[in-house]
Amino acid sequence: MIHTGPADVQSHGRLRSSGSPVRVVFLAPTFPPEMIQYTRGLAEVGAEVYGVADTPREALPKELRRHLHDYLQVPRIMDEPDVIDRVTAWMRGKHVDRALANWEPLMILAAGLRERWGLPGMSVDDVRGFRDKEIMKERVRAAGLRVPRSKRVRTPKEILAAAEEIGFPLILKPIAGAGSADTYRVSDRTELASTMALMRHVAEASCEEFIEGEEFTYDTVSIGGKPAYENVAAYLPKPIEARSHEWISPVIITVRDMHQERLRPGIELGRQVLKALRMGDGFTHMEWFLTPRGEAVFGEIGCRPAGAHLVDQMNYTSDIDLFREWARVACWRSFEAPTARHYNVGIIFKRAMGQGRISRIEGLGNWKREAGRWLVEDKLFRPGTPRRNWKNTLLSDGHLLVRHPDWSEAHRLSFSAAMGVRLYAE
Ligand SMILES: Nc1ncnc2c1ncn2[C@@H]1O[C@H](COP(=O)(O)OP(=O)(O)O)[C@@H](O)[C@H]1O
Ligand SMILES: [Mg+2]
Repeated sequence: MIHTGPADVQSHGRLRSSGSPVRVVFLAPTFPPEMIQYTRGLAEVGAEVYGVADTPREALPKELRRHLHDYLQVPRIMDEPDVIDRVTAWMRGKHVDRALANWEPLMILAAGLRERWGLPGMSVDDVRGFRDKEIMKERVRAAGLRVPRSKRVRTPKEILAAAEEIGFPLILKPIAGAGSADTYRVSDRTELASTMALMRHVAEASCEEFIEGEEFTYDTVSIGGKPAYENVAAYLPKPIEARSHEWISPVIITVRDMHQERLRPGIELGRQVLKALRMGDGFTHMEWFLTPRGEAVFGEIGCRPAGAHLVDQMNYTSDIDLFREWARVACWRSFEAPTARHYNVGIIFKRAMGQGRISRIEGLGNWKREAGRWLVEDKLFRPGTPRRNWKNTLLSDGHLLVRHPDWSEAHRLSFSAAMGVRLYAE
């Protein structure tokens, strides 16, 4: 429970004039690692950043420390009422301008702090529309937009009833999931029984109509729900497939040409979804399906940046710094970076064959020669590094980033790495 109480921290309905710092409470500046970049961005646009996380102060990375004005270690960052009380006590008597987070599990907590202190920004109820997949779909559906038919389910009985109503194939997934964890395509009654057994530990799930088609992202940095920056990226293959087969090297490519006709329905859908869900200021990350008939169907959305380096890809697409630009939007409601798109940027996540530590890499030298100056990053794990659990993170055993002004070349180079570069573990 988050209580809305009288403002016990002094807030400013409006920001002080530029020149004086904006005081920002930023949750979890340490994790995931790119939060260090957002903290840097905040400091660079003139914010005084008060970080809150459960990392011990001594363990804060050096490159983060210099961007933090002060830091509070809490025992459990996910314990919402406890964090709200502690941060309120910590900031008592100080002016606070913003309470922010950029990591999905903390978005509601940041909104709770804003409500408690009477700060501007999205309310807990606004954020819930981006967090609870059924409330999300109800609100998007109510705006007349195309959403998969779906039901909230808690018990085996409810799942069976929902399956009858929705029909096969269907999707079963947690109501507040991430990274395709516990997400299953179910093609008939027999599969439904076995899937239900696998999902017993999930308290609340969504039972959804399965949408055929390609899958894309629609990402924005928005001001008052209006996109100041937009991005579309193609999932190759769809996340559910990438997470089902270990041999796949998942590829995601940002689309340079966002004006092409076939993407128009998805971009239009995205803009409408932001309105329907009362988006405020900040990043959004939406997923949508493009059906064989050319229709755009809503998938899901978060009011936070995409993870797994997609923000790096966007930065390489336009040669800009969205970490800083997000901060400018969050603090000053202004976006100043150019939005012209120069490249299609592909990321290729690799998964080693075998268990344990990486022992060797094949094909990397050849691929690098092929990619030439279009290679952007080589962050593949080197021999000796222990493998990551590919089921837990798309990041897997590292990645390659490549870009090209032509879609077909970016696509070709990405798949050449997906097929031709191989990592082995002993
Ligand atoms: N209704 C659906 N039809 C087809 N595929 C779906 C559907 N819902 C989810 N998926 C697949 O499962 C993946 C994970 O589901 P998603 O709702 O995005 O959850 P998460 O929060 O885990 O990313 C999607 O990216 C997509 O590939
Ligand atoms: Mg998703």
